[in-house]
Amino acid sequence: MDNFIQLIYFLTALLFILGLRRMSSPATARSGVLWAGGAMVLATLATLLTPGMGNFALILVALVIGAVVAWIAAKRVQMTDMPQMVAIYNGMGGGAAAAIAAVELLGGEFSALGIKALAVLGALIGAVSFTGSGIAFAKLQGLMPGRPVQFPAQRVVNLVVLGLAILLGILLLPTQAGGLILVFFLAALAFGVLMTLPIGGGDMPVVISLYNAFTGLAVGFEGFAIGNPALIVAGTVVGAAGTLLTLLMARAMNRSLWSVLVGGFGVEQGGGEVTGSLKPIDLEDAAVMLGYASKVIFVPGYGMAVAQAQHKLRELADVLEGKGVEVKYAIHPVAGRMPGHMNVLLAEAGVPYEQLYDLEEINPEFPQADVAVVIGANDVVNPAARRPGSPLYGMPILDVDKAQNAIVIKRGQGKGFAGVENELFFAERTRMLYGDAQGVLGGLVQALKRL
Ligand code: TAP
Repeated sequence: MDNFIQLIYFLTALLFILGLRRMSSPATARSGVLWAGGAMVLATLATLLTPGMGNFALILVALVIGAVVAWIAAKRVQMTDMPQMVAIYNGMGGGAAAAIAAVELLGGEFSALGIKALAVLGALIGAVSFTGSGIAFAKLQGLMPGRPVQFPAQRVVNLVVLGLAILLGILLLPTQAGGLILVFFLAALAFGVLMTLPIGGGDMPVVISLYNAFTGLAVGFEGFAIGNPALIVAGTVVGAAGTLLTLLMARAMNRSLWSVLVGGFGVEQGGGEVTGSLKPIDLEDAAVMLGYASKVIFVPGYGMAVAQAQHKLRELADVLEGKGVEVKYAIHPVAGRMPGHMNVLLAEAGVPYEQLYDLEEINPEFPQADVAVVIGANDVVNPAARRPGSPLYGMPILDVDKAQNAIVIKRGQGKGFAGVENELFFAERTRMLYGDAQGVLGGLVQALKRL
């Protein structure tokens, strides 16, 4: 039986890795999720077969509750609420790793002190990920203010609590004292809350990804503690993928991970000198501009996601293509609020992958575009990012200001995530088309059909 279980765990690990591999392309991502999900079912079955396993009724009840809640939540969740959904599930993973560690620390036998140290480390990281992800969820779900929460001597307090948790973890190594274990967990849980409070709502996706990596690490360490190869492999894969994603996201925003973690971003709003005026355009004139263009580049951003305007955008692209206009989509790596946000939405609307272009590919094409249409994007097209001193300085942007003409669709004078005024909107060749993105794009489709 033991060999059979190990074989299933091996298969599980293989499927996790292959599933993750398939998730790296939009064309195979859905099947990747199914493969990894199937692996999870296999791992659960193998665990239930473990000799000495008991409490089957309790396990079944927990499985049914978990599956039903997750199924309903996943069916109902809006695409814009996906980051907090990831946060809460990820937090559960961290909590589960910490719970395994708690049971082991209270009563388990460790083969070596090093293994116990791994269990303690996993407990610390898992507990931090549990409460940290919970706070991230609460912020993004609007259950608490999304802005950075700051108080005097915050960094000192955070460091003291972290130091206390580490010290208690070390003291735990030679003992099984329940009281010490409890205080250790309380300190770790408190640090998760404290670490997340000063981070602003918009930086939360980076932090969620970091907690994702934490959860992976915690699960991997607990895998060592209880000798479970599936946990070790799955944890390592999640830990590595989460770390890479976190670093990629921070780099694409031109922020160091440290500056994200220290928090406070968006509290002081920077703004450069902006000259010129905002020049509105109406639907009919915008439709004429688009209808007689030969090349149009669409630049979607967070506002398109909020308005759920991707289907109307696709409709507009179809109408333009019907008139012989060349259409491309420019995708900024951090447009929206989560990695691949625009790709997912546009794929959902059936936009062909070949029409989506990364920043490096599309930027040289803007000067040849007759019109660049910005749909609810702001920071990712803000030329202020080229000016030293701006909070956006260094972030690569889509060169919409180099297009022959630009049309910007947004509701009003709202700033972008970074709170910086956008000089593109005031430029000579830019026209502002005000309104909710879905309504405006629908109006453009109608106006173009009348041309
Ligand atoms: P933002 O800079 O957030 O700007 C979005 C714009 O959309 C706003 O100026 C808003 O202006 C407009 N808008 C909102 N609702 C709208 C609606 N219903 N219809 C039309 N327009 C609407 O977006 P972006 O350019 O996509 O930049 C993303 C930002 O998020 C970057 O700063 C990035 O660093 C940050 N961020 C991204 C990620 C990832 S991984 N994608 C993670 C964390 C942070 P009005 O209010 O005037 O309409």
